[in-house]
Amino acid sequence: MNNYIKPGPGIMQIKPYAGGKSGFIGKKSIKLSSNESALGPSLRVKEAFLKSLDSLAIYPDGKQYALKEAIAKNNNLDINQIICGAGSDEILTLIGNAYLTPGDEVIYPEHAFVLYKIITLANGAIPIAAPEKDLTADVDSILNLVTSKTKIIFIANPNNPTGTYLSSSEIKRLQSNIPENILLIIDGAYAEYVMANNYDCGVELVSASNNVVMTRTFSKVHALASLRIGWAYCPSHIIDVLDRIRGPFNVSIPSIMAGSAAMNDIDHVNHSVAHNAKWRDHLHNFYTELGIKVIPSVANFLLLDFKNLENINSNTLEKYLNEKNIYIRNVADYGLPTHLRITIGSEKDNETLLGEIQKYVEDTRI
Ligand SMILES: Cc1ncc(COP(=O)(O)O)c(C=O)c1O
Repeated sequence: MNNYIKPGPGIMQIKPYAGGKSGFIGKKSIKLSSNESALGPSLRVKEAFLKSLDSLAIYPDGKQYALKEAIAKNNNLDINQIICGAGSDEILTLIGNAYLTPGDEVIYPEHAFVLYKIITLANGAIPIAAPEKDLTADVDSILNLVTSKTKIIFIANPNNPTGTYLSSSEIKRLQSNIPENILLIIDGAYAEYVMANNYDCGVELVSASNNVVMTRTFSKVHALASLRIGWAYCPSHIIDVLDRIRGPFNVSIPSIMAGSAAMNDIDHVNHSVAHNAKWRDHLHNFYTELGIKVIPSVANFLLLDFKNLENINSNTLEKYLNEKNIYIRNVADYGLPTHLRITIGSEKDNETLLGEIQKYVEDTRI
């Protein structure tokens, strides 16, 4: 036993985040491992980014005004209730840092985005996973786990890696059955892709209550994952707290300029959403016809279950695809060892992927 400085309680229980294949892997590879945009940013956004190069030597506007203004205008929100961060990761982390103390309990659905557990443990709090039904969050099972120690409930809606969602009435039912001192975080990283009539991203609930926060990202439909931009819509008392602890310049000028342009480029967002919806249906049907079980998704990825397929196993298929320079996400660390998560890509990437999967499945069955 050494006498070195020790980290806070919970930290050594954290398994460091291991995402899908990340970083630039060359133009010849197909990267469908991290739910990034299929189409990339528009020309307008690239131009805004290039313009920002003139200001690399100066600090950004710490109030992030231009970015917040674009977000408020395009989403019809009160600018004073918006906060921006270096990815929604940062905002979720700041919320955990601000409100969790050792021994607090944090509830999230069983197959929730893994960051919630990391944030919980990092603050010495206790992670509580609520059982799901059909890989979908279950409000009753969450409510059954609420105790006097519960501080935060995290729900990604839609959820990563399952692609499933809760209807707005279910989210409202959850919020109306918890006390006001429990914070409900609705993580809408994939909100733009959802077309279901009974879905809403949570804005109304934030406006109508004092204990709901909605987080969003520029990493998915806005195609700016590399620039690390996220935002949240919060009650004013939470903005007040987060503004005290965030880094004073946590969003860079290139991020503010490209992010504002991306938020204002509604045509590009609509185009990306339409591309995603078309391919989501097509891919779902294609996999189903091959005999692969597809979890119905409202997001920009599909979760496939290979459990009942003779001879085909998710690990060997992943290895085969990697050999062809196609990268997808193994989700065994989410407790889904027979599943693979595959991002919906560009037309060309989807076609190549489908060709390879079809070949693999047919060759393996012979
Ligand atoms: C559900 C969910 N929330 C948040 C994030 C983090 O996104 P960001 O890039 O804004 O940090 C992700 C990223 O994959 C996600 O899947």
